[in-house]
Amino acid sequence: MARNLVFMLALTSLYIGLAAADWNILNKKVTNGAASGLKSYCESWRINVELNNIKGFELVPQECVDFIKHYMKSSQYTADSERAIEEARLYRSSCCSLEGDGKDAWIFDVDDTLLSTIPYFKKHGFGGEKLNATLLEAWMKQGKAPALDHTLKLFHEIKDKGVKIFLISSKSETLRSATVDNLINVGYHGWCSLILRGLEDDLMKVQQYKSEARQRLIKEGYRIWGITGDQWSSVEGLPAAKRTFKLPNSMYYLS
Ligand SMILES: *[C@@H]1O[C@H](CO)[C@@H](O)[C@H](O)[C@H]1NC(C)=O
Repeated sequence: MARNLVFMLALTSLYIGLAAADWNILNKKVTNGAASGLKSYCESWRINVELNNIKGFELVPQECVDFIKHYMKSSQYTADSERAIEEARLYRSSCCSLEGDGKDAWIFDVDDTLLSTIPYFKKHGFGGEKLNATLLEAWMKQGKAPALDHTLKLFHEIKDKGVKIFLISSKSETLRSATVDNLINVGYHGWCSLILRGLEDDLMKVQQYKSEARQRLIKEGYRIWGITGDQWSSVEGLPAAKRTFKLPNSMYYLS
Protein backbone atom coordinates (compact mmCIF):
# COMPACT_ATOMS: atom_id res chain seq x y z
CA MET A 1 0.00 0.00 0.00
CA ALA A 2 2.69 2.45 1.05
CA ARG A 3 4.80 1.38 -1.86
CA ASN A 4 1.86 1.94 -4.22
CA LEU A 5 1.39 5.42 -2.82
CA VAL A 6 5.05 6.28 -3.34
CA PHE A 7 4.81 4.94 -6.87
CA MET A 8 1.69 6.98 -7.55
CA LEU A 9 3.23 10.14 -6.18
CA ALA A 10 6.29 9.57 -8.34
CA LEU A 11 4.05 9.06 -11.36
CA THR A 12 2.03 12.19 -10.56
CA SER A 13 5.12 14.36 -10.31
CA LEU A 14 6.35 12.90 -13.58
CA TYR A 15 3.08 13.93 -15.22
CA ILE A 16 3.27 17.41 -13.72
CA GLY A 17 6.85 17.65 -14.96
CA LEU A 18 5.83 16.62 -18.47
CA ALA A 19 2.87 18.96 -18.51
CA ALA A 20 5.03 21.87 -17.42
CA ALA A 21 7.63 21.18 -20.09
CA ASP A 22 4.91 20.90 -22.69
CA TRP A 23 3.03 24.00 -21.63
CA ASN A 24 5.09 26.63 -23.37
CA ILE A 25 3.16 28.26 -26.19
CA LEU A 26 5.93 27.75 -28.68
CA ASN A 27 5.67 24.06 -28.02
CA LYS A 28 9.16 23.36 -29.25
CA LYS A 29 11.12 20.47 -27.83
CA VAL A 30 13.22 21.74 -24.97
CA THR A 31 16.67 20.48 -25.79
CA ASN A 32 18.71 22.18 -23.13
CA GLY A 33 18.38 24.37 -20.09
CA ALA A 34 19.65 27.53 -21.78
CA ALA A 35 17.00 27.41 -24.54
CA SER A 36 14.30 26.78 -21.97
CA GLY A 37 15.55 29.68 -19.86
CA LEU A 38 15.48 32.03 -22.84
CA LYS A 39 11.94 31.00 -23.76
CA SER A 40 10.73 31.61 -20.23
CA TYR A 41 12.52 34.94 -20.19
CA CYS A 42 10.95 36.05 -23.49
CA GLU A 43 7.48 34.79 -22.60
CA SER A 44 7.61 36.67 -19.31
CA TRP A 45 8.87 39.77 -21.16
CA ARG A 46 5.88 39.43 -23.51
CA ILE A 47 3.26 38.90 -20.82
CA ASN A 48 4.62 41.83 -18.79
CA VAL A 49 4.29 44.05 -21.85
CA GLU A 50 0.65 42.98 -22.06
CA LEU A 51 0.18 43.61 -18.35
CA ASN A 52 1.63 47.11 -18.83
CA ASN A 53 4.36 46.46 -16.29
CA ILE A 54 6.89 47.04 -19.05
CA LYS A 55 6.01 50.44 -20.47
CA GLY A 56 7.33 52.44 -23.36
CA PHE A 57 9.77 49.90 -24.74
CA GLU A 58 11.46 51.06 -27.92
CA LEU A 59 12.80 47.76 -29.12
CA VAL A 60 11.99 44.14 -28.50
CA PRO A 61 15.07 42.76 -26.66
CA GLN A 62 17.37 41.32 -29.34
CA GLU A 63 17.43 37.86 -27.77
CA CYS A 64 13.59 37.76 -27.91
CA VAL A 65 13.05 38.89 -31.50
CA ASP A 66 12.75 35.31 -32.77
CA PHE A 67 10.31 34.48 -30.00
CA ILE A 68 8.11 37.53 -30.71
CA LYS A 69 8.21 36.80 -34.43
CA HIS A 70 7.09 33.25 -33.72
CA TYR A 71 4.35 34.46 -31.37
CA MET A 72 2.95 37.14 -33.70
CA LYS A 73 2.64 34.54 -36.47
CA SER A 74 1.32 31.78 -34.20
CA SER A 75 -2.12 30.35 -33.64
CA GLN A 76 -1.60 31.46 -30.02
CA TYR A 77 -1.62 35.13 -31.11
CA THR A 78 -4.85 34.46 -33.02
CA ALA A 79 -6.38 32.64 -30.03
CA ASP A 80 -5.37 35.44 -27.64
CA SER A 81 -6.91 38.05 -29.95
CA GLU A 82 -10.07 36.03 -30.47
CA ARG A 83 -10.51 35.61 -26.73
CA ALA A 84 -10.24 39.37 -26.16
CA ILE A 85 -12.85 39.94 -28.88
CA GLU A 86 -15.09 37.22 -27.44
CA GLU A 87 -15.00 38.90 -24.03
CA ALA A 88 -15.95 42.21 -25.66
CA ARG A 89 -18.82 40.44 -27.40
CA LEU A 90 -20.07 38.90 -24.14
CA TYR A 91 -19.90 42.24 -22.39
CA ARG A 92 -21.63 44.02 -25.26
CA SER A 93 -24.50 41.54 -25.30
CA SER A 94 -25.38 42.14 -21.66
CA CYS A 95 -23.89 45.44 -20.59
CA CYS A 96 -25.66 48.23 -22.14
CA SER A 97 -29.06 49.69 -21.77
CA LEU A 98 -28.90 51.27 -25.19
CA GLU A 99 -31.23 54.20 -25.38
CA GLY A 100 -31.50 54.34 -29.13
CA ASP A 101 -30.81 58.07 -29.07
CA GLY A 102 -27.71 57.76 -31.25
CA LYS A 103 -25.40 58.56 -28.36
CA ASP A 104 -24.11 55.10 -27.55
CA ALA A 105 -20.52 54.80 -28.66
CA TRP A 106 -17.68 52.31 -29.01
CA ILE A 107 -14.08 53.18 -29.86
CA PHE A 108 -11.63 51.13 -31.91
CA ASP A 109 -7.93 51.62 -32.62
CA VAL A 110 -6.98 51.15 -36.25
CA ASP A 111 -3.56 49.51 -36.59
CA ASP A 112 -3.27 46.02 -35.11
CA THR A 113 -6.87 46.27 -33.99
CA LEU A 114 -8.88 46.61 -37.22
CA LEU A 115 -5.96 46.26 -39.64
CA SER A 116 -2.81 44.20 -39.22
CA THR A 117 0.68 45.65 -39.65
CA ILE A 118 2.26 42.21 -39.38
CA PRO A 119 3.08 42.12 -43.14
CA TYR A 120 5.17 45.28 -42.61
CA PHE A 121 6.91 44.03 -39.49
CA LYS A 122 7.68 40.71 -41.16
CA LYS A 123 10.08 42.68 -43.34
CA HIS A 124 11.26 44.95 -40.53
CA GLY A 125 12.34 42.75 -37.71
CA PHE A 126 9.15 42.30 -35.66
CA GLY A 127 9.96 45.16 -33.33
CA GLY A 128 13.66 44.33 -33.15
CA GLU A 129 14.58 47.25 -35.45
CA LYS A 130 14.05 50.88 -34.52
CA LEU A 131 10.73 52.00 -36.00
CA ASN A 132 11.29 53.96 -39.21
CA ALA A 133 8.22 56.18 -39.50
CA THR A 134 8.97 57.10 -43.12
CA LEU A 135 9.02 53.49 -44.23
CA LEU A 136 6.00 52.51 -42.14
CA GLU A 137 3.95 55.42 -43.51
CA ALA A 138 5.00 54.58 -47.06
CA TRP A 139 3.74 51.04 -46.47
CA MET A 140 0.48 52.36 -44.98
CA LYS A 141 -0.01 54.62 -48.01
CA GLN A 142 -0.25 51.50 -50.17
CA GLY A 143 -3.40 50.59 -48.21
CA LYS A 144 -2.68 46.87 -48.29
CA ALA A 145 -3.06 45.96 -44.63
CA PRO A 146 -5.27 42.90 -44.08
CA ALA A 147 -8.18 42.95 -41.64
CA LEU A 148 -8.10 41.19 -38.30
CA ASP A 149 -11.11 39.01 -39.04
CA HIS A 150 -12.40 38.57 -35.51
CA THR A 151 -12.35 42.35 -34.95
CA LEU A 152 -14.12 42.86 -38.28
CA LYS A 153 -17.00 40.67 -37.06
CA LEU A 154 -17.26 42.47 -33.74
CA PHE A 155 -17.19 45.85 -35.51
CA HIS A 156 -20.27 44.92 -37.56
CA GLU A 157 -22.10 43.33 -34.64
CA ILE A 158 -21.67 46.49 -32.58
CA LYS A 159 -22.64 48.75 -35.47
CA ASP A 160 -25.72 46.66 -36.23
CA LYS A 161 -26.94 47.28 -32.68
CA GLY A 162 -27.07 50.99 -33.45
CA VAL A 163 -23.92 51.85 -31.52
CA LYS A 164 -21.86 54.63 -33.10
CA ILE A 165 -18.32 53.61 -33.89
CA PHE A 166 -15.40 55.99 -33.54
CA LEU A 167 -11.95 55.13 -34.85
CA ILE A 168 -9.23 56.97 -32.96
CA SER A 169 -5.74 56.49 -34.34
CA SER A 170 -2.45 58.19 -33.57
CA LYS A 171 -1.44 58.13 -37.19
CA SER A 172 -1.20 61.25 -39.26
CA GLU A 173 -4.01 63.06 -41.12
CA THR A 174 -1.87 62.65 -44.25
CA LEU A 175 -2.78 58.95 -44.18
CA ARG A 176 -6.53 59.59 -44.17
CA SER A 177 -7.48 58.62 -47.71
CA ALA A 178 -5.18 55.57 -47.76
CA THR A 179 -6.59 54.44 -44.41
CA VAL A 180 -10.21 54.90 -45.48
CA ASP A 181 -9.59 53.01 -48.75
CA ASN A 182 -7.80 50.23 -46.90
CA LEU A 183 -10.57 49.88 -44.32
CA ILE A 184 -13.30 49.77 -46.94
CA ASN A 185 -11.41 47.32 -49.15
CA VAL A 186 -11.18 44.76 -46.34
CA GLY A 187 -14.82 45.11 -45.26
CA TYR A 188 -15.16 47.96 -42.74
CA HIS A 189 -17.82 50.57 -43.39
CA GLY A 190 -20.35 52.65 -41.56
CA TRP A 191 -18.17 54.09 -38.81
CA CYS A 192 -19.19 57.47 -37.47
CA SER A 193 -15.85 59.22 -37.51
CA LEU A 194 -12.17 58.49 -38.13
CA ILE A 195 -10.08 60.67 -35.85
CA LEU A 196 -6.46 61.10 -36.93
CA ARG A 197 -3.61 63.18 -35.61
CA GLY A 198 -3.30 66.64 -37.10
CA LEU A 199 -0.19 68.82 -36.93
CA GLU A 200 -1.47 70.55 -33.81
CA ASP A 201 -1.67 67.18 -32.01
CA ASP A 202 1.82 66.15 -32.97
CA LEU A 203 3.50 67.42 -29.82
CA MET A 204 1.12 65.51 -27.57
CA LYS A 205 1.77 62.05 -26.25
CA VAL A 206 -0.54 59.46 -27.78
CA GLN A 207 -2.30 58.88 -24.49
CA GLN A 208 -3.13 62.57 -24.02
CA TYR A 209 -4.27 62.94 -27.62
CA LYS A 210 -6.62 59.96 -27.26
CA SER A 211 -7.95 61.15 -23.89
CA GLU A 212 -8.76 64.52 -25.42
CA ALA A 213 -10.56 62.87 -28.32
CA ARG A 214 -12.71 60.93 -25.81
CA GLN A 215 -13.33 64.12 -23.85
CA ARG A 216 -14.74 65.74 -26.98
CA LEU A 217 -17.07 62.77 -27.55
CA ILE A 218 -18.35 62.96 -23.97
CA LYS A 219 -18.95 66.71 -24.36
CA GLU A 220 -21.01 65.90 -27.44
CA GLY A 221 -23.14 63.66 -25.24
CA TYR A 222 -21.81 60.21 -26.19
CA ARG A 223 -21.72 57.33 -23.71
CA ILE A 224 -18.54 55.36 -24.35
CA TRP A 225 -19.41 51.74 -23.57
CA GLY A 226 -16.15 50.19 -24.64
CA ILE A 227 -12.74 50.60 -26.24
CA THR A 228 -11.04 47.87 -28.26
CA GLY A 229 -7.36 48.55 -28.90
CA ASP A 230 -3.91 47.01 -28.95
CA GLN A 231 -2.18 49.87 -27.11
CA TRP A 232 -2.38 50.80 -23.44
CA SER A 233 -2.27 54.46 -24.48
CA SER A 234 -5.68 53.89 -26.12
CA VAL A 235 -7.37 52.78 -22.91
CA GLU A 236 -5.49 54.63 -20.14
CA GLY A 237 -6.35 58.07 -18.80
CA LEU A 238 -9.56 60.01 -18.38
CA PRO A 239 -12.31 60.03 -19.36
CA ALA A 240 -12.42 56.24 -19.17
CA ALA A 241 -14.74 53.92 -21.06
CA LYS A 242 -16.94 51.58 -19.03
CA ARG A 243 -14.85 48.61 -20.21
CA THR A 244 -11.70 48.21 -22.26
CA PHE A 245 -10.51 45.24 -24.29
CA LYS A 246 -6.79 45.03 -24.98
CA LEU A 247 -5.58 43.05 -27.96
CA PRO A 248 -2.08 41.60 -27.83
CA ASN A 249 0.79 43.44 -29.50
CA SER A 250 4.38 42.67 -28.60
CA MET A 251 5.98 44.55 -31.51
CA TYR A 252 5.73 48.20 -30.46
CA TYR A 253 4.51 50.44 -27.67
CA LEU A 254 3.07 53.89 -28.33
CA SER A 255 3.37 56.14 -25.28
C1 LIG B 1 14.32 55.19 -42.81
O1 LIG B 1 14.55 54.43 -43.96
C2 LIG B 1 14.99 55.18 -45.08
C3 LIG B 1 15.04 54.26 -46.28
O2 LIG B 1 15.75 53.08 -46.01
C4 LIG B 1 16.36 55.80 -44.76
O3 LIG B 1 16.81 56.57 -45.83
C5 LIG B 1 16.20 56.67 -43.51
O4 LIG B 1 17.46 57.17 -43.13
C6 LIG B 1 15.59 55.88 -42.35
N1 LIG B 1 15.31 56.78 -41.27
C7 LIG B 1 15.71 56.56 -40.03
C8 LIG B 1 15.31 57.57 -39.02
O5 LIG B 1 16.37 55.59 -39.74
